[in-house]
Amino acid sequence: MRLRNVRNAKEIVDNSDYVVHNPFEYKGKYKGLFGNENPIHLEVGMGKGDFIINMALKYPDINFIGLEKYESIVCRAIQKLENKEIKNLKLIVIDALELGNIFDKEIECLYLNFSDPWPKKRHAKRRLTSNVFLPIYDQIFKDECLIIQKTDNVGLFESSIVSLSTYGYVIEDISLDLANKEIENSLTEYEAKFMSQGTKINDLKARKK
Ligand SMILES: C[S@@+](CC[C@H](N)C(=O)[O-])C[C@H]1O[C@@H](n2cnc3c(N)ncnc32)[C@H](O)[C@@H]1O
Repeated sequence: MRLRNVRNAKEIVDNSDYVVHNPFEYKGKYKGLFGNENPIHLEVGMGKGDFIINMALKYPDINFIGLEKYESIVCRAIQKLENKEIKNLKLIVIDALELGNIFDKEIECLYLNFSDPWPKKRHAKRRLTSNVFLPIYDQIFKDECLIIQKTDNVGLFESSIVSLSTYGYVIEDISLDLANKEIENSLTEYEAKFMSQGTKINDLKARKK
């Protein structure tokens, strides 16, 4: 994701009602924040928010949270939400390493879309499916762990399959060409770009009881 210095990014984030400004205080209480008992789905590394906004509009009976570590990127999502009132959507600006400190067994599905691949071996632990993050995800999932991943990057995809399987996840569904699958699919910003270039998208669904 290219980072442009967005003027007023902090101000835009600070003034948005979509943003959970004190995510640590809601640990274990996110249902209360949404005011209903609907399941909560989380996207980590949501970028400019196309996917999570579309999902929230498409599935009003699911609560969606988009998490992203940079204010300058989150404010792009906030700009897309101007004049929209989407009650089942919240955004959080934080590093995914903090997930265990902001959620307590309340997430039912985690989306990892076009996560940074970190191709160098010495950076492998930064991948969002590395064995640094999988124990953190154990703390946030409600009854069982469900991860849905999409990526153009074969190296990241292969390392995810190894890491998830080694950690006890069962890969329930997998494909190397998402565009040719007959399923409902909300595009992310990166996905739209890659598809327009004819790049094949890998996807998987992995579950751990
Ligand atoms: C390649 S972009 C993909 C954005 C979007 N998911 C898409 O598909 O268009 C990866 C995003 O993940 C965010 N990200 C990477 N590591 C993160 C972390 N540890 N915590 C939160 N966000 C992270 C980056 O800032 C970036 O916006």
